Amino acid sequence: MSSGKKRNIVLSGFMGTGKSSVGKRLAELTHYDFLDLDAAIEAEAGISIPQIFSSQGEPAFRALEFQMVERAARQTGLVIAAGGGTVADPRNLEILKSYCILITLTADIPTILRRTGSGDDRPMLIGGDRVQRIRTLLEKRASAYSQADIVLDTSALTIEEVARQLVELLRGFDFVH
Ligand code: S3P
Repeated sequence: MSSGKKRNIVLSGFMGTGKSSVGKRLAELTHYDFLDLDAAIEAEAGISIPQIFSSQGEPAFRALEFQMVERAARQTGLVIAAGGGTVADPRNLEILKSYCILITLTADIPTILRRTGSGDDRPMLIGGDRVQRIRTLLEKRASAYSQADIVLDTSALTIEEVARQLVELLRGFDFVH
Protein backbone atom coordinates (compact mmCIF):
# COMPACT_ATOMS: atom_id res chain seq x y z
CA MET A 1 0.00 0.00 0.00
CA SER A 2 1.18 3.48 -0.70
CA SER A 3 -0.44 6.66 0.50
CA GLY A 4 0.91 10.17 0.78
CA LYS A 5 -1.29 10.83 3.77
CA LYS A 6 0.08 8.17 6.15
CA ARG A 7 2.40 10.04 8.45
CA ASN A 8 2.23 8.22 11.78
CA ILE A 9 2.16 4.63 13.00
CA VAL A 10 -0.58 3.63 15.45
CA LEU A 11 -0.55 0.61 17.71
CA SER A 12 -4.05 -0.45 18.61
CA GLY A 13 -5.42 -3.59 20.21
CA PHE A 14 -6.86 -4.84 23.47
CA MET A 15 -5.42 -4.07 26.93
CA GLY A 16 -2.37 -6.21 27.58
CA THR A 17 -1.39 -6.78 23.97
CA GLY A 18 1.80 -4.72 24.39
CA LYS A 19 0.94 -1.42 22.69
CA SER A 20 2.92 0.89 24.98
CA SER A 21 6.02 -1.27 25.51
CA VAL A 22 6.23 -2.23 21.85
CA GLY A 23 5.45 1.35 20.79
CA LYS A 24 8.43 2.72 22.73
CA ARG A 25 10.78 0.18 21.16
CA LEU A 26 9.31 0.61 17.68
CA ALA A 27 9.82 4.38 17.97
CA GLU A 28 13.49 3.80 18.80
CA LEU A 29 13.95 1.45 15.86
CA THR A 30 12.18 3.70 13.35
CA HIS A 31 13.51 7.00 14.79
CA TYR A 32 9.96 8.22 15.23
CA ASP A 33 8.77 10.04 18.35
CA PHE A 34 6.67 8.03 20.78
CA LEU A 35 3.28 9.26 21.96
CA ASP A 36 1.20 7.35 24.48
CA LEU A 37 -2.42 8.40 24.04
CA ASP A 38 -3.41 7.42 27.60
CA ALA A 39 -0.54 9.52 28.99
CA ALA A 40 -1.62 12.44 26.78
CA ILE A 41 -5.18 12.11 28.13
CA GLU A 42 -3.91 12.08 31.73
CA ALA A 43 -1.70 15.13 31.07
CA GLU A 44 -4.64 17.01 29.54
CA ALA A 45 -7.01 16.09 32.39
CA GLY A 46 -4.42 16.54 35.13
CA ILE A 47 -5.63 13.32 36.80
CA SER A 48 -5.17 9.59 36.20
CA ILE A 49 -7.40 7.50 33.93
CA PRO A 50 -9.01 5.64 36.87
CA GLN A 51 -9.74 9.05 38.43
CA ILE A 52 -11.32 10.33 35.20
CA PHE A 53 -13.57 7.25 35.08
CA SER A 54 -14.55 7.47 38.75
CA SER A 55 -15.11 11.23 38.95
CA GLN A 56 -16.47 12.00 35.46
CA GLY A 57 -17.44 8.66 33.93
CA GLU A 58 -16.52 6.82 30.75
CA PRO A 59 -18.19 9.33 28.35
CA ALA A 60 -15.92 12.11 29.66
CA PHE A 61 -12.90 9.85 29.16
CA ARG A 62 -14.00 9.00 25.59
CA ALA A 63 -14.50 12.70 24.78
CA LEU A 64 -10.93 13.45 25.92
CA GLU A 65 -9.67 10.43 24.00
CA PHE A 66 -11.30 11.76 20.81
CA GLN A 67 -9.68 15.18 21.33
CA MET A 68 -6.26 13.58 21.78
CA VAL A 69 -6.72 11.39 18.68
CA GLU A 70 -7.50 14.46 16.58
CA ARG A 71 -4.47 16.26 18.00
CA ALA A 72 -2.10 13.31 17.54
CA ALA A 73 -3.21 12.43 14.02
CA ARG A 74 -2.41 15.96 12.81
CA GLN A 75 1.24 15.45 13.73
CA THR A 76 3.95 13.69 11.75
CA GLY A 77 6.51 11.00 12.48
CA LEU A 78 4.88 9.57 15.59
CA VAL A 79 4.49 6.04 16.87
CA ILE A 80 1.22 6.38 18.78
CA ALA A 81 0.16 3.80 21.36
CA ALA A 82 -3.65 4.03 21.40
CA GLY A 83 -5.83 2.87 24.27
CA GLY A 84 -7.58 -0.48 24.05
CA GLY A 85 -10.94 1.14 23.31
CA THR A 86 -9.79 3.98 21.06
CA VAL A 87 -10.72 2.43 17.71
CA ALA A 88 -14.10 1.30 19.08
CA ASP A 89 -15.23 4.89 18.44
CA PRO A 90 -15.84 4.99 14.66
CA ARG A 91 -14.70 8.63 14.55
CA ASN A 92 -11.31 7.68 15.98
CA LEU A 93 -11.03 4.70 13.66
CA GLU A 94 -11.71 6.90 10.64
CA ILE A 95 -9.17 9.56 11.65
CA LEU A 96 -6.48 7.02 12.50
CA LYS A 97 -7.02 5.00 9.33
CA SER A 98 -6.83 8.15 7.22
CA TYR A 99 -3.62 9.55 8.63
CA CYS A 100 -1.73 6.61 10.10
CA ILE A 101 -0.61 3.09 9.38
CA LEU A 102 -2.88 1.20 11.75
CA ILE A 103 -1.51 -1.85 13.54
CA THR A 104 -3.60 -4.12 15.77
CA LEU A 105 -1.71 -6.17 18.34
CA THR A 106 -3.61 -9.20 19.60
CA ALA A 107 -3.10 -11.72 22.40
CA ASP A 108 -5.00 -14.74 23.71
CA ILE A 109 -7.12 -14.38 26.84
CA PRO A 110 -4.68 -16.10 29.27
CA THR A 111 -1.95 -13.72 28.06
CA ILE A 112 -4.22 -10.68 28.42
CA LEU A 113 -5.13 -11.82 31.95
CA ARG A 114 -1.49 -12.31 32.91
CA ARG A 115 -0.30 -9.01 31.46
CA THR A 116 -3.14 -6.88 32.85
CA GLY A 117 -2.76 -8.36 36.35
CA SER A 118 -5.45 -7.86 38.95
CA GLY A 119 -4.92 -4.18 39.75
CA ASP A 120 -7.56 -1.47 39.45
CA ASP A 121 -5.61 0.68 36.98
CA ARG A 122 -7.86 -0.45 34.11
CA PRO A 123 -11.40 0.73 34.82
CA MET A 124 -12.89 -1.23 31.90
CA LEU A 125 -11.89 -4.50 33.60
CA ILE A 126 -13.18 -3.73 37.07
CA GLY A 127 -16.20 -5.57 38.50
CA GLY A 128 -17.69 -8.95 37.75
CA ASP A 129 -15.95 -11.87 36.16
CA ARG A 130 -12.74 -10.62 34.54
CA VAL A 131 -12.58 -13.29 31.81
CA GLN A 132 -16.19 -12.62 30.88
CA ARG A 133 -15.57 -8.86 30.71
CA ILE A 134 -12.56 -9.43 28.46
CA ARG A 135 -14.57 -11.77 26.19
CA THR A 136 -17.46 -9.33 25.90
CA LEU A 137 -15.21 -6.37 25.10
CA LEU A 138 -13.18 -8.41 22.59
CA GLU A 139 -16.38 -9.41 20.80
CA LYS A 140 -17.66 -5.82 20.72
CA ARG A 141 -14.36 -4.54 19.36
CA ALA A 142 -13.46 -7.37 16.99
CA SER A 143 -14.68 -5.63 13.86
CA ALA A 144 -12.85 -2.37 14.68
CA TYR A 145 -9.61 -4.21 15.51
CA SER A 146 -9.80 -6.20 12.27
CA GLN A 147 -9.69 -3.05 10.14
CA ALA A 148 -5.97 -2.53 10.69
CA ASP A 149 -3.33 -2.53 7.95
CA ILE A 150 -1.29 -5.03 10.00
CA VAL A 151 -2.50 -7.51 12.66
CA LEU A 152 0.10 -9.29 14.81
CA ASP A 153 -0.41 -11.81 17.63
CA THR A 154 1.99 -10.97 20.45
CA SER A 155 1.06 -13.84 22.82
CA ALA A 156 4.26 -15.84 22.29
CA LEU A 157 6.62 -12.97 21.46
CA THR A 158 8.89 -10.67 23.45
CA ILE A 159 8.62 -6.90 23.11
CA GLU A 160 11.81 -6.90 21.05
CA GLU A 161 10.50 -9.64 18.72
CA VAL A 162 7.22 -7.81 18.16
CA ALA A 163 8.98 -4.51 17.45
CA ARG A 164 11.41 -6.11 14.99
CA GLN A 165 8.65 -8.04 13.19
CA LEU A 166 6.73 -4.79 12.85
CA VAL A 167 9.74 -3.02 11.35
CA GLU A 168 9.85 -5.78 8.70
CA LEU A 169 6.09 -5.63 8.08
CA LEU A 170 6.22 -1.84 7.79
CA ARG A 171 8.80 -1.94 5.01
CA GLY A 172 6.06 -2.26 2.41
CA PHE A 173 4.42 0.99 3.46
CA ASP A 174 5.30 4.49 2.30
CA PHE A 175 5.39 7.36 4.74
CA VAL A 176 5.38 11.10 4.31
CA HIS A 177 7.81 11.42 7.22
C1 S3P B 1 -9.22 1.15 27.79
C2 S3P B 1 -7.87 0.80 27.74
C3 S3P B 1 -6.83 1.56 28.46
C4 S3P B 1 -7.28 3.01 28.71
C5 S3P B 1 -8.61 3.03 29.38
C6 S3P B 1 -9.71 2.35 28.53
C7 S3P B 1 -10.20 0.34 27.06
O1 S3P B 1 -5.63 1.55 27.70
O2 S3P B 1 -7.33 3.72 27.51
O3 S3P B 1 -8.49 2.40 30.63
O4 S3P B 1 -11.35 0.79 26.89
O5 S3P B 1 -9.84 -0.79 26.61
P1 S3P B 1 -4.64 0.27 27.59
O6 S3P B 1 -5.17 -0.58 26.49
O7 S3P B 1 -3.33 0.89 27.25
O8 S3P B 1 -4.64 -0.40 28.92
